[in-house]
Amino acid sequence: MIVVTGASGNVGGQVVALLAAAGERVTAVSRRTAELPEGVRQVRADLDDPAGLKDAFEGADVMFLLVAGQNPQAILDAAMVGGVRRVVLLSSQGAGTRPDFYRHPAAFEDAVRRSGLEWTILRPGGFHSNAYAWAESVRGGRTAAAPFGDVGLPTIDPADIAEVAATVLREDGHAGRVYELTGPAPTTPRERVAAIGAALGTPVRFAEQTREEARAQMLQFMPEQVVEGTLAILGEPTDAERRISPDVERVLGRAPRSFADWAVRNAAAFR
Ligand SMILES: NC(=O)c1ccc[n+]([C@@H]2O[C@H](COP(=O)([O-])OP(=O)(O)OC[C@H]3O[C@@H](n4cnc5c(N)ncnc54)[C@H](OP(=O)(O)O)[C@@H]3O)[C@@H](O)[C@H]2O)c1
Repeated sequence: MIVVTGASGNVGGQVVALLAAAGERVTAVSRRTAELPEGVRQVRADLDDPAGLKDAFEGADVMFLLVAGQNPQAILDAAMVGGVRRVVLLSSQGAGTRPDFYRHPAAFEDAVRRSGLEWTILRPGGFHSNAYAWAESVRGGRTAAAPFGDVGLPTIDPADIAEVAATVLREDGHAGRVYELTGPAPTTPRERVAAIGAALGTPVRFAEQTREEARAQMLQFMPEQVVEGTLAILGEPTDAERRISPDVERVLGRAPRSFADWAVRNAAAFR
């Protein structure tokens, strides 16, 4: 049985759907009630309350873990008591390139490596779906604001992350691997906004934000340290953060999907 945490979320929800479609027995864990495919067991639990995870891990052998809650060791202990022997962690590129800013994912990686479980770590860069932040202003006024409009980064489709995760959860041969997950090509914020316009069939205006404007906006939903790390990646990416990784193609046997492809599939959110 495979336990999927973050099952009510963007990536976790798609992991659950892929595993269920492949005939796996799945337990979906989240605090909110999630809409799940038929046959998937739902356990509502908080990763910050590992004692409450006992039921979720009963009879499990594999786990998809995302970075949530303050005590990764306690989550892993509860998983091992339930029978888990393999963990796939959804970490973040920043844990490798800027561990001083991304301390939380880095701490989860350390705990997973030390756990004695068979582990695989997924390190995605920025998601294509971060563009949902523009949905309201595109719907209301055909405009989208972002900082560093001409800095390119190879953002990744969350559907590709989910497909890599589902593959690694089901297959042997990925133990002890760290997969860097990126899209197929760098795109700039200005190009992403143009791709949304093309998907809608109507132009969308790009409005360049200052670093300070972006910082103030991001502080509303991210801790300060992560905001500083994210602004550094968006504005002054290192070579490692610009690099196109071969890992999606290595695992899936096909290239990762482009931002333009994501925009077409998700155009309804911007109409
Ligand atoms: N966006 C990016 O550019 C980016 C880049 C690199 C890495 N990441 C990482 O990727 C992860 C997944 O992204 P996403 O888009 O799928 O996120 P998302 O849609 O916000 O989903 C997050 C999930 O985590 C669950 N969760 C949060 N705190 C929890 C807790 N204490 N106990 C149990 N469940 C908890 C939420 O469920 P409930 O609220 O129902 O509990 C939700 O299902 C993020 O956590 C982020 O760290 C994101």
